[in-house]
Amino acid sequence: MDVHTWSRPDLVRIRHLELDLDVRFDRKMLDGSVTLRFDPTAHDELVLDTRDLEIHSVENAAGFKLGERDRILGTPLRIRLSPGSSWVRVVYSTSPQASGLQWLEPPQTAGKRHPFLYTQSQAIHARSWIPLQDSPAVRVTFQGRVRTPAGLHAVMAAERAGEHFEMNHPVPSYLIALAAGALEFRQLGERCGVLAEPPLVDAAAREFADTEAMIRAVEEMFGPYRWGRYDLLVLPPSFPFGGMENPCLTFATSTILAGDKSLVSLVAHELAHSWSGNLVSNATWSDFWLNEGFTVYLERRIVEKVYGRERGEMEAVLGRRELDREMANLQESDRVLHIELEGRDPDDGCTLVPYEKGALLLRTIEQEVGRERFDAFLRSYFDHFAFRSITTADFLDYLRRELPLKTLLDPWIFQPGVPPGAADPHSDAFERIEDAAARWQQGQQVDTRDWTTQSWLHFLRMLDPPDMARLDREFRLGESGNSEILHQYLLMAVRAGHRPAFPRLVEFLNSVGRRKFLKPLYTELMKTPEGERQARQIYQSARQGYHPITQVTLDAIVGGE
Ligand code: BES
Ligand code: ZN
Repeated sequence: MDVHTWSRPDLVRIRHLELDLDVRFDRKMLDGSVTLRFDPTAHDELVLDTRDLEIHSVENAAGFKLGERDRILGTPLRIRLSPGSSWVRVVYSTSPQASGLQWLEPPQTAGKRHPFLYTQSQAIHARSWIPLQDSPAVRVTFQGRVRTPAGLHAVMAAERAGEHFEMNHPVPSYLIALAAGALEFRQLGERCGVLAEPPLVDAAAREFADTEAMIRAVEEMFGPYRWGRYDLLVLPPSFPFGGMENPCLTFATSTILAGDKSLVSLVAHELAHSWSGNLVSNATWSDFWLNEGFTVYLERRIVEKVYGRERGEMEAVLGRRELDREMANLQESDRVLHIELEGRDPDDGCTLVPYEKGALLLRTIEQEVGRERFDAFLRSYFDHFAFRSITTADFLDYLRRELPLKTLLDPWIFQPGVPPGAADPHSDAFERIEDAAARWQQGQQVDTRDWTTQSWLHFLRMLDPPDMARLDREFRLGESGNSEILHQYLLMAVRAGHRPAFPRLVEFLNSVGRRKFLKPLYTELMKTPEGERQARQIYQSARQGYHPITQVTLDAIVGGE
């Protein structure tokens, strides 16, 4: 059923892992073992996923061999089981090129003095640092012991139990996570806190001060938070994503530290995954929209409850517009919610379609049945499927049984584009921004004193074509400390061939690794011969600072080494 694993969980199913790892910054490798426990089985073979692992030995087994490496899936590890056994131990080390690890040199960190390591397992990168059944349909509990050089801290996305970490709820492999570096902690609330490098930790604590209020907001709407603690880990700017919902410990890019809480919908998003995604998970990567569409819907509900309806609606409108913009450049088969991924890297399915079209479907259903009934449905959905991995068909069956609808679901799930009758987010505040943009385009001054980050993004996206020199004179956006505004400005500068912005562009491309920012910037640059020359030149030096996942994406756009 899952085309992205070599393993056969239908024959032998791993239930529990015990990880024991040394973090070797000197050799850029994890070195140690994993013990895998499974129900006793009559079957004599256990197949695990690996990618670029060196397997030193397999204990308590009758033998093992590595198969042929597949470009997307990695290499199967075939272990011959001893009759009646219920565990094996694989002794292994990772490769410095492991796709799920980023090893940062001190200059790439905020403190500049210590190295930093973090993992990114979603979608199928856990296999590059742990040999396991790397399918979201397989859930395991685990224990982790991690040794680091003196002075550096290791953390796992799990509960701390003295000297080791424990995850006592079964989770899919893509949620197993580890980080190590110079980290400091600040408590934010009863059950939440933030970990960051010392130079960032106070700013992070101020930015994320509303986290406890967000947790309470979701609990009121959708039921209890079931994971104990909720902490945030701030990662260096090379992190390829905005955030990653590792259980108990969200990983977040430092580029959301804007100073005014204006980008914390990302925290709402990763927190929401504690229900949609971590409690109820997609069973295959074709069902990814069940994770992300539900999460964007929940994210906007949290933002509405904590920051007000206006902000929630602004973000919904921005989301809808970006969806249309991106969809215009996608092939038809990628404009559906349930996406065909056979022979493809699941990271290719990570477009705005599962996110924004998914959220729009839920909003459309809410609109039909009313918020009260829809919230009751969602709450029962999270209860019913708690700690399970489900397919789109499982969701549709449950929905049709619990909440009969007039809205036709199949066009949403299986046909390209946004069907007629979709909910249509609207913001009055944005109407005023649209007026302001029209007046500004005619040469008038506009009063921007009460504008928020969302206002600025909408304003900038209305300007077509923008007078870049006048933008610089009046607003100095190239100096913005807000990564979203700066990114939008740089994108417009590249489109307009606005040379004064280029030093800032080069600096941005060399310091930020967030794929959502880099992909559009490099794509725009590649559209002209002059830009292409610049893109290649910048990429040549910036590439080694990017995460392996970002490198794969950008190699396809700019051309690899
Ligand atoms: N789980 C995703 C990140 C992800 C998706 C990693 C697919 C690997 C493969 C995370 O929850 C996410 O959606 N992050 C977004 C932020 C969000 C606010 C839209 C991101 O990183 O931009
Ligand atoms: Zn997400």
